[in-house]
Amino acid sequence: MTVAAPLPHDSAELHVTGKARYVDDLPSPAGTLHLAFGLSAIARGRVTDMDLSAVRAAPGVVKVLTANDLPHANDVSPSIHDEPLLSDGSVHYLGQPLFLVVATSHTLARKAARLADVSYDEEPPLLTIDDAMAANSHFEDGPRIWQRGDADAAVANAPHRISGTIEMGGQEHFYLEGQAALVQPQDNGDMLVHSSTQHPTEIQHKVAEALGLPMHAIRVETRRMGGGFGGKESQGNALAVSCAVAASLTGRACKMRYDRDDDMTVTGKRHDFRISYEVGFDDQGRVLGISFLQLARCGWAQDLSLPVADRAMLHADNAYQLDNIRIESHRLKTNTQSATAFRGFGGPQGMLGIERVMDHIAHALGTDPLEVRRVNYYAEKDGADDAPKNTTPYGQDVTDFVLHDLTAKLIDGSDYTKRRAAVAEWNAANPVLKKGIAFSPVKFGISFTLTHLNQAGALVHVYADGSIQMNHGGTEMGQGLNQKVAQVAASRFGVAMSAVRITATDTSKVPNTSATAASSGSDLNGMAVRNACDLIRARMADFIGRYHQCPSDAVEFAGGFVHAGDNVMTFAQAAKLCYENRVSLSATGFYKTPSLSWDRIKGQGRPFYYFAYGAAVTEVVIDTLTGENRILRTDILHDAGTSLNPALDIGQVEGAYVQGAGWLTTEELVWDNKGQLRTHAPSTYKIPACSDRPDIFNVTLYENANAEDTIYRSKAVGEPPFMLGISALLALSDAVAACGAPYPDLQAPATPERILKAVQKVQDA
Ligand code: MTE
Ligand code: MOS
Repeated sequence: MTVAAPLPHDSAELHVTGKARYVDDLPSPAGTLHLAFGLSAIARGRVTDMDLSAVRAAPGVVKVLTANDLPHANDVSPSIHDEPLLSDGSVHYLGQPLFLVVATSHTLARKAARLADVSYDEEPPLLTIDDAMAANSHFEDGPRIWQRGDADAAVANAPHRISGTIEMGGQEHFYLEGQAALVQPQDNGDMLVHSSTQHPTEIQHKVAEALGLPMHAIRVETRRMGGGFGGKESQGNALAVSCAVAASLTGRACKMRYDRDDDMTVTGKRHDFRISYEVGFDDQGRVLGISFLQLARCGWAQDLSLPVADRAMLHADNAYQLDNIRIESHRLKTNTQSATAFRGFGGPQGMLGIERVMDHIAHALGTDPLEVRRVNYYAEKDGADDAPKNTTPYGQDVTDFVLHDLTAKLIDGSDYTKRRAAVAEWNAANPVLKKGIAFSPVKFGISFTLTHLNQAGALVHVYADGSIQMNHGGTEMGQGLNQKVAQVAASRFGVAMSAVRITATDTSKVPNTSATAASSGSDLNGMAVRNACDLIRARMADFIGRYHQCPSDAVEFAGGFVHAGDNVMTFAQAAKLCYENRVSLSATGFYKTPSLSWDRIKGQGRPFYYFAYGAAVTEVVIDTLTGENRILRTDILHDAGTSLNPALDIGQVEGAYVQGAGWLTTEELVWDNKGQLRTHAPSTYKIPACSDRPDIFNVTLYENANAEDTIYRSKAVGEPPFMLGISALLALSDAVAACGAPYPDLQAPATPERILKAVQKVQDA
């Protein structure tokens, strides 16, 4: 069957030959205008005067727009209308768009945007978590608190107690294709929008709002993105809306793309967090009570921060049964870029909190952190009535906890125990280079926590020559969603992959889509496409059955043929026969995830349809004189259910691990005390390169059919393995621990500088 085959990405050849078309590669219509923002030079205050005469007089400039020139809504927020496209006079971060230049070329627009003479009434900005806490600057008027049992009493009565804090920085998405949009005016003021977006329906909605038009007047098309990673869930709105407004005012096509520095200065990133913990445990390291304080820096606008912070709370347990737990979450409003979705959506931050705790407990007890993790794991469920109850702090049962078995297999396959002993031996013999090794597991909840988003639509056409066109609401950002879903379609009709044409995502073909996010793309769209295919197949079988006088359920679609009793025809012949007999060969499909119920205020219910699991063992070496470090070896065992495409899934696991390790090691965002992001280009912001991947990198998929009825029993794979990168930070911490007695206070990202400081701190103690 085509499903489960390790086929290459449908665009692999186009990607590597440079022929894959992105928004900026589309041939622009004659007379296309180009846009650039003028950005604020301060982080907080008011614009007292904005003289744009030099901008207007600059070569190539056709129009310059300020907030007052916008015809309708001045808002690009995906949540609560708190994000003006152009400043209304108040300034909330350094880099906020103040005005929009429309010019005859990209370069002329950017040059003109620098010529503004702006005066400000400057106020001291709130930049850091400490600034925001001191000023009580919150979204939602204060913290959210979820608890179960009595954490304080359990901590107080426990035989052992520790407390600590881990800081974790944000992360730039660093998609290779920057944000981009191209808008072409149509009849009657309608607009065709090409956008590099994970969320075409949101673009449609915001453009319609900005033009005062119904959604039917706007069509959004997205063929592919050169990476999104969550950074194109909401951050593309500003460009598409700007182009649409400029196109409606000029009647010309308009295009906008940020250059890399603007992209990094203007757009939101991963939320940085500070997580403090107090934990009480027994002699085995079993957690008896725990309380977390999660401080999230959300930036100036609410954006997606509330669900991100919720997901951090929902992953504070990771893989562990915690009976007495209290989580307090602060969503802090600061004068920085609006922090937004990024692979894992808060999950990585919440999970790092508890993984740090497991490590800290093991250090306090002088035991192997692996064993502390194992004693705290949720119990293995075998379906027996007397099986212990596995319930998350938010009340969802964990019914298929596979981490005991997965862990055993990984520990065995990676030779963890022997290598841990070898690392200790190495460290005893080597004063300068120290090695570290760490294991960390992942249990990640799959579904949007905003329940209504868990739906998808599809539109499938079978043409009279037997070729099939497949549309669905998901978007392609490199993850291989289209390939997986096309494999589903080919399997339903029993045809070769070459019979199925993958098309651009288009709001006029499938309406009201959710963002391709929360790793749910193939779960949702795979099912919707399957449903559409099955409707057409049933109509074909019904007709062909009657035609050949056999029951319709005896009509089989396989190997490119349709079998009906003793009669065999090619799928193309069957399609032609159905067409000539007036059988409808086009259908929409729809899917909604079953069994979800979630009260996010109380923090109770079943927010997730199921969990995806995985684990990693990472070994590193550090140079204690410089802090330089390398990942020597990583072994991963990851649960993608019954994989729809093992080649693509392994690629997702590898990429996610490296991106996760990058977040916690080399990728550092630095703002100065004026709120200027100093790391706004690859010269100063270091993402992992090919040479930074583990020297030995063994990635294996764990055989485990999804217990829930997902598409071919597969599991979502886009985000969960990101959190396997946590093992890299823990391994570095293990290496630092070899330098002295105290628990290393290694913070993230663990840059060479931080590693060196941590080494010196444990050596000096
Ligand atoms: N893989 C590639 N190559 N590029 C991306 O931008 N985004 C990730 C993940 N894998 C991403 C990626 C994120 S944040 C998500 S939510 C999922 O893909 C979205 O796609 P899916 O739901 O189809 O897995
Ligand atoms: Mo992914 S952060 O859900 O786009």
